[in-house]
Amino acid sequence: MNILGIETSCDETSAAILLGRRVASNIVSSQRCHTGFGGVVPELASREHERMIVSIVDSAVTEANITKNELDCIAATAGPGLIGAVMVGLCFAEGMAFSLGIPFVPVNHIEAHMFSAFIPESPEHRSPEGPFVSLTVSGGHTLLSVVQEDLSYVVIGRTLDDAAGEAFDKTGKMLGLAYPAGPVIDRLATGGDRHFHEFPRALTSSSQTSRNYRGNFDFSFSGLKTSVLTWLQKHPEEYIRAHLQDIAASVQHAIVSVLVEKTLAAAQHYRVGAVSVAGGVSANSALRNAMKEACMRHGIELYLPGTVYSTDNAAMIASLAGLMYEKGLVRKNRYDVAPFSSFGVRTRKASLT
Ligand code: KG4
Ligand code: ZN
Repeated sequence: MNILGIETSCDETSAAILLGRRVASNIVSSQRCHTGFGGVVPELASREHERMIVSIVDSAVTEANITKNELDCIAATAGPGLIGAVMVGLCFAEGMAFSLGIPFVPVNHIEAHMFSAFIPESPEHRSPEGPFVSLTVSGGHTLLSVVQEDLSYVVIGRTLDDAAGEAFDKTGKMLGLAYPAGPVIDRLATGGDRHFHEFPRALTSSSQTSRNYRGNFDFSFSGLKTSVLTWLQKHPEEYIRAHLQDIAASVQHAIVSVLVEKTLAAAQHYRVGAVSVAGGVSANSALRNAMKEACMRHGIELYLPGTVYSTDNAAMIASLAGLMYEKGLVRKNRYDVAPFSSFGVRTRKASLT
């Protein structure tokens, strides 16, 4: 199948073409119009997607060396995300599918991250063959799930407050770093001492307040945020500036330690031999290294998408649509476009929710 995927849920306009199980193109354009606002301005994001969508889709088709008439289906993010931004990609995709007389497939953005271990990144690409634990860490979600081969999954843990990406972005904001602060902290941390200050790791073995952390796969990052704020308030500005790299490394180490400990504990608890890490935060170099090291130590297989497939991209949307076709999960029923996804505890199948 030749699938066009479109992703516009936040501040990336992206289009990708999958020819069979090969990524033939994956164009990602990151919006710059939000600089100076300290976050993404929804209305500006929608307008920018509208300005870019035609040329991004054209580039994806051209780079894949096909014509639009050779497409078999078009998939687009239907949420969660900034609803105006989602609607731009979704309406464009549905209109284009209608005009070409081919099916349109709505895809859940977070599920697309969750299943990104299946994006056929290269001819040698290996995907998980049995059940695996998925850690999905983005700007708005932190989910631990046990995923089965038939694309069904159960969410076993989620954040009680901030997402892992938010923990990076909000602590980075306190340090005066530009949005999104995750990649900036990642870069700064490489020159810093991660043991400079021990920030709290809630709901883990090292937490003083939670004795019942075993078997608890939920996350909490708001305490870390408060701890960083109070630490900053107690120290003079020059001291903070002189130790910016050390603070970045210590904050990053706290977040990464929690993510690694919980993921490995979940794999052991559910006796699963494979782990995948996906979503924007999975681009973090310290998380990638720590997860590789921990999985190797415990004899667990690790699936990490390449960094372009960690952050928002349309290849993951096209890839999940392809998997849904393979597993017979594409249905012609009505769908909702939603800014939020609840990810309740029941077993769900990819995008049948
Ligand atoms: O998946 P994503 O691109 O968009 C959402 O679906 O939210 O994730 C964006 C999040 C942001 O919070 C950003 O700071 C974080 O991913 N992020 C990183 C890195 N690259 C992106 N966090 C830590 N280190 C990185 N290298
Ligand atoms: Zn995302």
